[in-house]
Amino acid sequence: MKQKLIAGNWKMNGGLAANKALLHELQQGLAHALDSKHAQVAMCVPAVYLSQVQQLVMGSGINLGAQDVSMHEHGAYTGETSASMLKDFAVRYVIVGHSERRQNHGETDVQVALKAQRALSAGMTPIVCVGETLSEHESGHTEDVVKRQLAAVIHANGHCISEIVVAYEPVWAIGTGKNATPNQAQEVHAVLRAQLKAATSQAERVHILYGGSMNAANAAELLSQPDIDGGLIGGASLKSADFLCIIAAAAR
Ligand code: PGA
Repeated sequence: MKQKLIAGNWKMNGGLAANKALLHELQQGLAHALDSKHAQVAMCVPAVYLSQVQQLVMGSGINLGAQDVSMHEHGAYTGETSASMLKDFAVRYVIVGHSERRQNHGETDVQVALKAQRALSAGMTPIVCVGETLSEHESGHTEDVVKRQLAAVIHANGHCISEIVVAYEPVWAIGTGKNATPNQAQEVHAVLRAQLKAATSQAERVHILYGGSMNAANAAELLSQPDIDGGLIGGASLKSADFLCIIAAAAR
């Protein structure tokens, strides 16, 4: 069985002192948890803290992640961060197409696919987020939406597709405290797995994470579903005790 992947997403939270304290607590907790080796852990932090967090997690088994990457290689793109810049800080994972970027910055499926491509060509693993809004959910369009979002990434990345991580994040579950039920999530994960299988013989290797109000209380049940290979954790990644509980649930 493949190791589960638990990735934190701090979003626009943190500060030099708070980051240091949180990572210290996490590392202490991980050192005491004998079974922590059975889950992979990553933390996706704001770009300005990559250098600090790179130093703080060195040798701890916590992988460094970023929250976005430019779809351009370099040049006149004020405010953007390129894949090669992230690579300079030993970034292993990059979130692309988070719903907050799709909604607040108008990112399209094609742009998200290009970002995934940039990450892959720089040797990083894109965590490609897909997920339906509440109205899409209520009108029964969940499957169409996530398949359309993933199809763009498959189309742009061809045979490299088994190197990505997918995160199913129903928009209505993000930061709301209202997670998808394990059955609801599993159903969508199975659809995504089938879509990957049609594109690659390596689809079983791909981690499909669930994200959206995953917490210490609901993680074990969500993570026990056959196609849920880990979690993308927002709010609960900012509290060491909660994040450690989720890692422990994944290591079972
Ligand atoms: P949440 O966020 O865990 O706070 O719901 C998840 C995410 O947006 O990645």
